[in-house]
Amino acid sequence: MNHNTTDIGPIGVFDSGYGGLTILSEIRRRLPQYDYLYLGDNARAPYGMRSFEVVYEFTLQAVKALFDRGCRLVILACNTASAKALRTIQQNDLPLIDPTRRVLGVIRPTVEALGALSVSGNVGVLGTAGTVRSQSYDMEIAKLYPGFTTTSHACPMWVPLVENEEASGPGADYFVEKYIRELFQKNPAIDTVILGCTHYPLLIDKIRKAMPAGVRVVCQGEIVACSLDDYLMRHPEMAARCSTGGTCRYLTTEHTDTFTARAGIFLHEDVNASHVTLA
Ligand code: DGL
Repeated sequence: MNHNTTDIGPIGVFDSGYGGLTILSEIRRRLPQYDYLYLGDNARAPYGMRSFEVVYEFTLQAVKALFDRGCRLVILACNTASAKALRTIQQNDLPLIDPTRRVLGVIRPTVEALGALSVSGNVGVLGTAGTVRSQSYDMEIAKLYPGFTTTSHACPMWVPLVENEEASGPGADYFVEKYIRELFQKNPAIDTVILGCTHYPLLIDKIRKAMPAGVRVVCQGEIVACSLDDYLMRHPEMAARCSTGGTCRYLTTEHTDTFTARAGIFLHEDVNASHVTLA
């Protein structure tokens, strides 16, 4: 693929499905001047239980689709994709596709923010089974804060609860309480919990209620938005390649009507999506 390196394009935001919209909202709130192109691989979501190989293959296809539509910078607004595909794409694929483009994830910025948040160094991470199994958070935290203890726990029912509009129903209380209880059974000394999945902010009220008193709950959206702002300030050459019309367009691998209807759970505005096939 031969990309023109002089022209400009929107910032690409990729997620397996709808959850990345929670990250996109925060990014747009902080950096409204840029153009955005969101891609949800809704037809193949969720990624949470998929293998490393499949998440990598699907994520690479999505990144290429966003590059083909002019994006110079792509944010993987999905913890599972950041955990399983980001490193390989950055190290193996980008140099071949176009070394001037960038792909960034959500795990590193979230972990960077931890230093200012945890007092005891006992950190909990809640995520999909794939994210927890990858141990990406554990490894990043160990690298940046060698004295910290990380305790991770998978919450496989939380994504389906949100996707099926049950986030505020009584069934959600059961599963929210269950996973939080199990996390604290593993380490009662945790003082800070990262919500390491894009969907979890939609359960935030129930999560806060179920947390032991005094425990800090970290949502990623604002952290990722701050980190992107900082990145663009430190990399003016990349900022200059991100177009600034203030627009936001949406691509989905699902039927567009389905995307439009369900995106409303995550965004409180109407969206018009276009269909894309990834291969
Ligand atoms: N977006 C995914 C994440 O942040 C959750 C949904 C999925 O399993 O695909 O891990």
